[in-house]
Amino acid sequence: MQNRSPVKPDDARKSRSARRLKNRVVRRRLPLRAGGVSTGNCPPLHRSSGRDVTTGEPGDRLMSDYDTYEVAGAARDEILFRCRRQIDAWGLTMPPVTPIVLQFGLNEFDRFGLVEFWIANEKQAGYCGKFLFLFDGQACPAHRHAKKHETFFVVRGTVRIVVDGRETVKNAGDILPMPPGTEHSFTGRGPALLLEVSSPCLLDDNFFADKRIGANGTI
Ligand SMILES: [Fe+2]
Repeated sequence: MQNRSPVKPDDARKSRSARRLKNRVVRRRLPLRAGGVSTGNCPPLHRSSGRDVTTGEPGDRLMSDYDTYEVAGAARDEILFRCRRQIDAWGLTMPPVTPIVLQFGLNEFDRFGLVEFWIANEKQAGYCGKFLFLFDGQACPAHRHAKKHETFFVVRGTVRIVVDGRETVKNAGDILPMPPGTEHSFTGRGPALLLEVSSPCLLDDNFFADKRIGANGTI
């Protein structure tokens, strides 16, 4: 009669381990947006353009209403090329939205303008977030808001900010709140990037000191 060799405990453990490896379920990671933020189970709200960010509430208007105040055509392409080159040099990634290249209707983009990357403008939920990019010496003109309450965070560079006539200089890492009714302007000292978090951005709630902008100073 043939002797069958007994299964050793070590061999049994190895066999179970091999089966587990074979049947292992590989957990897929959640997809990442370009900005490195997990989308999780959230609906795809802001896939292509910050201009689409709207709740659709009655009387609501899309960001495309700002087209009048934007740089267009080849000049826009050239500006965005320079902007992205600087952002790449900083090692940053902007959200995957269509940038808004503002010149405020003054057609002097190098002096009065900026590039905005809107992350969200959720009017019903009550929040807004956007990145503001300034070239060296470029200013967002003096303005105030009746409703919008903003807080600025300087991500890169240095900005000169004038608040109700008082000048302050903020560097990367600095925070500056801007309550409604406060007049403010900011100018890049070198290229600069700010994160603006705020209550919703509303048309007709942007009141500029320069009355050539918008409708007698109002956008
Ligand atoms: Fe503002």
